[in-house]
Amino acid sequence: MIVGIVDNAHFPPWDLAVGAPLSEEQRRVFRQRAGQPFPAEEVAAAHDELEQLSSILADEGVEVRRPEPRDHAASYAGLGWESTGLYDAMPRDLLLVVGDEIIEAPMAWRSRHHAASAYRPLLKDYFRRGARWTSPPKPELIDELYVDGWTDQPDGEPFRSVITEYEPTFDAADFIRCGRDIFGQRSHVTNGMGIEWLRRHLGDHYRVHEVTLADDHPMHIDASLMPLAPGKLLIHPDRVPEVPELFKDWEVRSAPQPVIPDGHPLYMTSKWINMNVLMIAEDRMVVEEQDRPMQELAESWGITPILCPFRNFNSFGGSFHCATVDVRRRGELRSYL
Ligand code: ARG
Repeated sequence: MIVGIVDNAHFPPWDLAVGAPLSEEQRRVFRQRAGQPFPAEEVAAAHDELEQLSSILADEGVEVRRPEPRDHAASYAGLGWESTGLYDAMPRDLLLVVGDEIIEAPMAWRSRHHAASAYRPLLKDYFRRGARWTSPPKPELIDELYVDGWTDQPDGEPFRSVITEYEPTFDAADFIRCGRDIFGQRSHVTNGMGIEWLRRHLGDHYRVHEVTLADDHPMHIDASLMPLAPGKLLIHPDRVPEVPELFKDWEVRSAPQPVIPDGHPLYMTSKWINMNVLMIAEDRMVVEEQDRPMQELAESWGITPILCPFRNFNSFGGSFHCATVDVRRRGELRSYL
């Protein structure tokens, strides 16, 4: 598994596309602090939690790989635009592993245009050792990709994305895989062409299903729909109006109420980041140390909780699933449909 790093994390330059998936309050902070580093003490505390996660995983027999720190304040340019970076904390957002193939996501945020670079040394090594390594058409990220003057859809109206269908874009974390079936959602970073690109690229060996969830600000599916193990599906209590057909014989449970206190900074996500757990085997779940309700859910489902402090990391926009990417797992490739 790859575990991300939070070193040198920066707020990206402000634009509509960055603001779209955030709450009003989060937008205010991102606008104010655009281009600035995240608070040093918060980075240090999150760094420490990532170290603990890495050693817990290693103790569990997982081979852990980490990227090297980079400078996210350095600016770079595309055709008619300029940006600085974000962080390398969430490898799940950008690396999609399907069988022996690793796909670099064509991300829609300009601040993440070079996100894969952090992982290139690892990707080259996997390639040398036999992995297939793919990068979809490199997105241009010019103004045509973004809806001019975008505003939130009014309450109760269908989701209105900040991105257009100018070119395929997706984040890897808008997809979640069960064997040969991959579930994906349109979001503020994933468009219809992005989903279709993946579907055609993977061909007949995999089925890509588009799901529509009840998420007002969708970006990344892994705090909404989380298959934990064959037969066990964890869902957000309100975001999954209809459980996809594949899961009809599965036991479906709603995530327990989050226990993250109100004052705790969450710069980019909702408190439902509590359901962003990491399964390291069908019966072993990495779960936040203070999250007793999620630990109880695991226990009552025959899953052993493995505790790790991660609240400081949560502030940066993810939890255990986001912070990691499992490159290789033992077991057979199953078909659940
Ligand atoms: N959008 C989700 C929420 O706010 C968080 C998803 C985070 N996932 C990730 N891979 N970074 O509830």
